Amino acid sequence: MKNKFTRRRFVRKATTGSVAMTWLGSRQAPMAFGQKTANPALLGGAPVHRGGWPNWPNWPNWLEAWKPAVINVLRSGKWWCGRGGHVAEFETEYAKLLGAKRCLATASGTTALQVSLHVMDVDAGDEVIVSPYTFVATYNAILNCKALPVFADTDPATLTMDPTSIESRITERTRAILPVHIFGMPCDMDPINAIAGKHNFAVIEDACQAWLAEYKGRKCGTLGDLACFSFQNSKHIPAGGGGAVTGNSDDLLDRCHAFHNIGLATDSFKGEKQFFTRSCNYRMLQFQAVILMQQIDKLVREMARRRENADYLGVQLKQIPGIQPARLPENSQAVWHLYPLRYDAKQFNGLARDKFLQALNAEGIPCSSVYHEQYFDGLLDEAIQSRGFKRLFSVERLKAYRESFQELKGNQQVCATTVAIPQNLLLAERQDLDHIAEAVRRIQTHSGMLAKGAE
Ligand SMILES: Cc1ncc(COP(=O)(O)O)c(C=O)c1O
Repeated sequence: MKNKFTRRRFVRKATTGSVAMTWLGSRQAPMAFGQKTANPALLGGAPVHRGGWPNWPNWPNWLEAWKPAVINVLRSGKWWCGRGGHVAEFETEYAKLLGAKRCLATASGTTALQVSLHVMDVDAGDEVIVSPYTFVATYNAILNCKALPVFADTDPATLTMDPTSIESRITERTRAILPVHIFGMPCDMDPINAIAGKHNFAVIEDACQAWLAEYKGRKCGTLGDLACFSFQNSKHIPAGGGGAVTGNSDDLLDRCHAFHNIGLATDSFKGEKQFFTRSCNYRMLQFQAVILMQQIDKLVREMARRRENADYLGVQLKQIPGIQPARLPENSQAVWHLYPLRYDAKQFNGLARDKFLQALNAEGIPCSSVYHEQYFDGLLDEAIQSRGFKRLFSVERLKAYRESFQELKGNQQVCATTVAIPQNLLLAERQDLDHIAEAVRRIQTHSGMLAKGAE
C-alpha cells in the first residue's frame, strides 16, 4: 500500500498520536552513548531520546514581544493590505533580505505560483516542466491554468529536478520550467536556466520551502524570472497563511501586482489602461504581514543554527552504512525545511522503510516518509479526464502523458526510500542531536530482530 503520510498529516498526527507522547514526556537523562545492547524502543527498550525538541510539535511559537505590534494592527481597523502599512513594509524587507529587486506579498504560496504562472503567460493547453518531488500545490497551480504539469525526473542524490531529464520532456506546448527547491535545497539552476534560455522558456522557482537558501552566492528567489514563497503555518517564517512572489523585473512585478489585486494597475505602471488584465484577489492581510515582520531576525538566526546543526548531523549520519544525506549543488547552502536521508533497507537486514520510521519515532526521533508518488493519486486522472483538458489536448498526448509517470524511476526511488526529520530538531542542542545518529545505529544493530518482528 502506498504511504500517504504527508508532511502536514505527519505534523497533525504527531500532535495527537503516541509519537507525541514520547516527545512530550519529561526531560530525562539521555542514555549513555554506545549503549548498544539496550533493546530498541519498539521492542520494549527505553527510547534513546526522552526529552522534547524545540517547539515540536507546537510550531510556530508565539513570542509575547510581538504582542504590541499585532494589537496595534487589530486596533487600527486597517486590516486589508490597501496601500502601504505592514504589507508594503514586509515586501520591502523581504526583497532586501533576498537581494531581489521586488517582492509582492500574496495570500499563500499556491496563489504566488498562480500569479507567476499567469504573468509568465502559461495559458490553457500549455505544458510546464516541473519537479515531481514536491508538495501537491505545485501541481495544482499548473492544473489551475488548465496547463499540464509535465514531470522531469528527480535526481536521487539531490532529491531535486534532474536537469538532464528536462530536454526529453519538451514539446511544442512547453512554456515554462518550474523547479522546486524542496526542503530548502537549491536545484541546480545553471543547467536549468541554460535549457530555458536556449528554448525561450520562463523559469519560475518554487521556493516555498527555501527562505534564504543559496545557490552559487545568490539567494533562491532571485534565480529565475519569478519565484514563489510560502508562509503557511509549518514554515520557517509562518503567518498561518501567506506567500510572496519575488523577482528582478519591475515590469513582471507590476503585472503580478495587478493580477493579485483585482486587476488594478500600479501607479508606476505607465502606458496601460487601469484594468488591463484578467485577475483575482490574492492579497495578503495586514495581520499576516505584521507577524512576518516580527520574525525576520528570528528567521536569519535560526537559519544559521539549522545549517550548522545539519552539517554536524550529516557528518555523523554519513558514517552509518545505508544512510545517505542529500547532496547539494556545488557552492550551495540549504535551509532544511525538513532534513532528508535516503534509507537503504539492504544495510538494515531488509527492515522495511516504514518499519524503520516506526522504530525511529519510537526512539523519540520524529521522522516521516514525506511525499509519495502523488501523480498516481486521483488529481491528474481527474484533470485529464475533464472536458476542459480533453478539449485542449489530443487523446494521444493525454495517453502518453499518463504513461510517462511510469518512467520517473529516480522519483520513484526517492519516494520509496526517503526518511525526513523535521526542522525543529536542527534547533536542538548538540547533545540532543547526537541522539539521532545513536538511535539510527541502535536500530541498525537490532535490525534483524526488528525485521523479523515485522514479518
Ligand atoms: C513546495 C511547496 N510549494 C507550494 C506550496 C504551497 O504553499 P501554500 O500552502 O502557502 O499555499 C507549499 C506549501 O506547503 C510547498 O511546500
